[in-house]
Amino acid sequence: MLRMVGLYKTFNLGINSVCALKNINLHVKPQDFITIIGSNGAGKSTLLSVAAGVYPPDEGAIYIDGTDVTRLPEHLRASFVGRVFQDPLQGTAASMTIEENLAMAECRSKGRTLGIGVTRKKRERYRELLSLLGLGLEERLSDPVGLLSGGQRQSLTLLMASLGQPKLLLLDEHTASLDPRTAEQVLELTQTIVRKHGLTVLMVTHNLSHALTMGNRTIMLDKGEIILDICEPERGELTVDDLLGRFAQARGERLLDDRLLLAAR
Ligand SMILES: Nc1ncnc2c1ncn2[C@@H]1O[C@H](COP(=O)(O)OP(=O)(O)OP(=O)(O)O)[C@@H](O)[C@H]1O
Ligand SMILES: [Mg+2]
Repeated sequence: MLRMVGLYKTFNLGINSVCALKNINLHVKPQDFITIIGSNGAGKSTLLSVAAGVYPPDEGAIYIDGTDVTRLPEHLRASFVGRVFQDPLQGTAASMTIEENLAMAECRSKGRTLGIGVTRKKRERYRELLSLLGLGLEERLSDPVGLLSGGQRQSLTLLMASLGQPKLLLLDEHTASLDPRTAEQVLELTQTIVRKHGLTVLMVTHNLSHALTMGNRTIMLDKGEIILDICEPERGELTVDDLLGRFAQARGERLLDDRLLLAAR
């Protein structure tokens, strides 16, 4: 579903240059759900941004469902790539209502910008979809999204990102700014939506236990490189401590002072 071949991405070429991605080769099968871990600055968000077309790689190629999208800009990939960010404010338009946000997402997933209007038929469908979230948002279709809590907003963003059943769903620490209970609910919702639509997912997380229990494969990035790639059934046998051990081994150093470690349990 996604193939990345020999990807490189360097920021600030010349002085202070940062090599954020170094020879990334990743082959993602349809319905794979890959969790991505690594320390701050390892290149996780850059990997997702390159997959979403926010910027092109300096070298290498990206194929989505067999099509070369390496130079295809973000807005032209929107119909087959859904994305949810860490910041609940980022995925939705605060001043627009819940139903307007859903209509906008639906248009984007169809590659259109016209027809954002909400018809009675659409409204009924949105009500049904929202009721799946179990948050009572189906009764608040004409409330501006700015009134929602972070968890409600992330749940809505998730629904919006998966509306057009994208070929690829990219989740970048999408529960990191939520309280633990809300985060668990949004993660459960993630599993439900992914299973229901059979989506292919890349999910960045700093929570190693989530990384091991969600999805079917875990990759670890370090200084722009994939240093571990663990699939089932091997992954099912690993504990968080095993994973930390593997990380330290691959990196050749201890993991003190690392956010990855702090968020491990
Ligand atoms: N737009 C940019 N301009 C310049 N440097 C950037 C840009 N985006 C990322 N970088 C740099 O690239 C490296 C990788 O950043 P990235 O955001 O991908 O890390 P990350 O693994 O997502 O980290 P975190 O866990 O903190 O979110 C970092 O050194 C970062 O400073
Ligand atoms: Mg990041």
